[in-house]
Amino acid sequence: HNVLVINGPNLNRLGLRQPEIYGHQTLTDIIDSLSEKAKDLNVALDHFQSNAEHELIERIHQAYQKTDCIIINPAAFTHTSVALRDALLSIDVPFFEVHLSNIHSREPFRHHSYLSDIAEGVICGCGPQGYAMALDAAAQLLAQNK
Ligand code: DQA
Repeated sequence: HNVLVINGPNLNRLGLRQPEIYGHQTLTDIIDSLSEKAKDLNVALDHFQSNAEHELIERIHQAYQKTDCIIINPAAFTHTSVALRDALLSIDVPFFEVHLSNIHSREPFRHHSYLSDIAEGVICGCGPQGYAMALDAAAQLLAQNK
């Protein structure tokens, strides 16, 4: 099975960016340990990060071909992007939404997500571990669906 991890804007700055909120691990650290976990789960992991909405949309469109499940942290686009929502609706690939921080305990503008109601599941406030939890959930879903 193929799982694609997508990270949105500013997540390339993890480790440096507001560590009191997002922690000290870099995105490379997170993806490295996720890749190890994927091996154990017998899942092929692909990763894409972009700060540009249109690049994220293009990558989602491509996922139509060989991706079985997406794990996405849309970052700030969570709260703004009808276009990302529509991109995910345009492909027939289930996805899990992940946020490092608990978006519900932060500013009111972070409380709404344009993706949550169409996601398979949502994990937030668990830090980098949230990606690992989403990968477990994805593997379980794919094992069920075969
Ligand atoms: C985030 C939460 C968003 O509100 C924020 O814009 C981000 C990161 C998180 O992982 O906690 O960039 O998605």
